[in-house]
Amino acid sequence: MATIRRDIGAGHHFIFDDSVVDIPNEDLFDPNLWQAQNKVTGKAKGRGTTLFITHETHQWVLRHFNRGGLIGKLLSDQYFFTGVEKSRPFQEFRLLEYMREKGLRVPEPVAARIHRRGAIYRGDLITKAIPNSRDLHHILCESALSADDWRHVGKALSKMHKCQVHHHDANIRNIMMDDKRNIWLIDFDRCEKRTGESWKQSNVDRLLRSLHKEKTKNTVFHWSEEDWQYCLEGYSGEQAD
Ligand SMILES: Nc1ncnc2c1ncn2[C@@H]1O[C@H](COP(=O)(O)OP(=O)(O)O)[C@@H](O)[C@H]1O
Ligand SMILES: [Mg+2]
Repeated sequence: MATIRRDIGAGHHFIFDDSVVDIPNEDLFDPNLWQAQNKVTGKAKGRGTTLFITHETHQWVLRHFNRGGLIGKLLSDQYFFTGVEKSRPFQEFRLLEYMREKGLRVPEPVAARIHRRGAIYRGDLITKAIPNSRDLHHILCESALSADDWRHVGKALSKMHKCQVHHHDANIRNIMMDDKRNIWLIDFDRCEKRTGESWKQSNVDRLLRSLHKEKTKNTVFHWSEEDWQYCLEGYSGEQAD
């Protein structure tokens, strides 16, 4: 695998894994084209719409970068340009690549692009879909996780922290489990490598807040404070290794 950056003029910039895609162009990131070819196999609604695509032997996830919140309603997908490498899709691609090299269970980046027009840009990212996986929000609305599963969740978070990665949105919708009960972390928009330790606890707190919030929101939600202890156990066990 080699990561290649391709700048083709008129504000188009790409980065891609050349063992997966040949030469990317904007078509690769166009939901309408995928739809027209009947290759969209699913959608997930978050801040924007994430598309699941089946192309040849590949299972991909295509995410258009969208803002959440109030600003999102006005400038839904436009970001202020401060450099290609500093753009959100490029940063997420490079961070995923770094974490994969470190052996973390995070999606493999396939390709990202931005299209710059003057002071703003729009962007997209394609990753490989995690086979046979569901996010923890989805799972917990149906069934409980075992004590070991929760330890593995804590362990996954801890491994990410050992690589000095801060997750900007550590909530249960960004944690996945596959059919072998492996835990995966996803959605690294605005995440970054940081020095020091002090920020790590706030990541852990954020996850606990998200669990409390979902427990109140959903009539059925298979999570209890006891599970949280297992998660913490997994987290501190890994830190001590
Ligand atoms: N690589 C992936 N493999 C499988 N499912 C994914 C993958 N990436 C995202 N998803 C699913 O799509 C949802 C939304 O994707 P995410 O990257 O979290 O975007 P956002 O939260 O910004 O809308 C996730 O909660 C998850 O259920
Ligand atoms: Mg998400």
